[in-house]
Amino acid sequence: MKDQLISKFTAIFGEQETKNIRTYFAPGRVNLIGEHTDYNGGHVFPCALTLGTYAVVRKRDDKKIRFYSMNFEEMGMIESFLNDFVYRESASWTNYLKGVIWTFEKRGYKIPTGFDVLIYGDIPNGAGLSSSASLEVVTGLMLKDLFGFQDLSMLEIALIGQYSENNFNGMNCGIMDQFASALGKKDHAIFLDTNTLIYEYVPIKLKNAKIVITNSKVKHSLVDTKYNERRRECEAAVKELQSVTEIESLGELTEEQYQQFESAISDTVLKKRANHAVYENQRTLRAVQALKNKDITLFGQLMNASHESLKYNYEVSCEEIDLLVELAQSIDGVLGSRITGGGFGGCTVSIVKEEAIYKFKQLIGEQYEKRTGHIAEFYVVDIGDGAHAI
Ligand code: GLA
Repeated sequence: MKDQLISKFTAIFGEQETKNIRTYFAPGRVNLIGEHTDYNGGHVFPCALTLGTYAVVRKRDDKKIRFYSMNFEEMGMIESFLNDFVYRESASWTNYLKGVIWTFEKRGYKIPTGFDVLIYGDIPNGAGLSSSASLEVVTGLMLKDLFGFQDLSMLEIALIGQYSENNFNGMNCGIMDQFASALGKKDHAIFLDTNTLIYEYVPIKLKNAKIVITNSKVKHSLVDTKYNERRRECEAAVKELQSVTEIESLGELTEEQYQQFESAISDTVLKKRANHAVYENQRTLRAVQALKNKDITLFGQLMNASHESLKYNYEVSCEEIDLLVELAQSIDGVLGSRITGGGFGGCTVSIVKEEAIYKFKQLIGEQYEKRTGHIAEFYVVDIGDGAHAI
């Protein structure tokens, strides 16, 4: 992979100083449970994939930056300059890198020279597997290494990615995706408390079962708008709860505490959103405990319950995803299945016994195409490491 990327790099940007070319990788992620809890001070349980984004880079002597993506070859080489850090729709995917450079500068990490960078990603774009977070994290790691900012930790790189996505790209995401991409660990999921950023690696041992991602291949528009709207709704619910209890976020409440206070929320929609955030957080705690107790059956049931809540209370699912989940849950040997990621399309994540994987792909593939006209894609997950040089 590395050799292929480097020869593509030299074909695009020229052969000079080949020895100064460096290559980095940052993974995408799949979240097992704990959805829409990360901006509510709750817990999440994602793992890094072996799919992700590669960056091949070489410093320049001037202030120019030249970008090229093998995923958007039709756009050709895109040129920019250090200091041209304004979000522009026409700048397309390069906005993610620019946002990270802008954040570095804002935090006092001055980028002294420009560079040429080639990007290649093998995560499907817009599928809810964090292609954008992996692009941000690979950019952060590349800048750290290229310009010698050795004091920057991987956690800070994740936070820079999130900051740039919030403030440069306008998506008010939580920390989960960048965190998983920066700090993932092979064969482990990350049990992260998004309130304190304290985390624990939990080995994923599923006996004879695998994690299977199903890509619905649909992405409904207004994803970012709807996402930001959910976030505002949760904030509004917290405001109302503050009239009866001292909390900063929904993640602080147990189910019992929430039941005691929920009548302070006047609006039924806000109540549903808050209900999801509180119960999903508690489900995540329970699911991690179940996994530690080797109770995969309970883990799967909690995943199913997570989907129900995301569908009815949080309303971030859609018909195509509900169909995938319903089909999955009807198959013997599927322990749990739910929507994963931001929602409104994208992917589901399921725990499937090895002997049922063939049937899973066949039945779902066939029924899904028949009923929606879309061809689902399946990935049997290998859990990989967080961002690194290669
Ligand atoms: C997106 C965001 C994350 C998280 C999930 C939902 O992936 O980037 O921060 O909120 O949605 O769990």
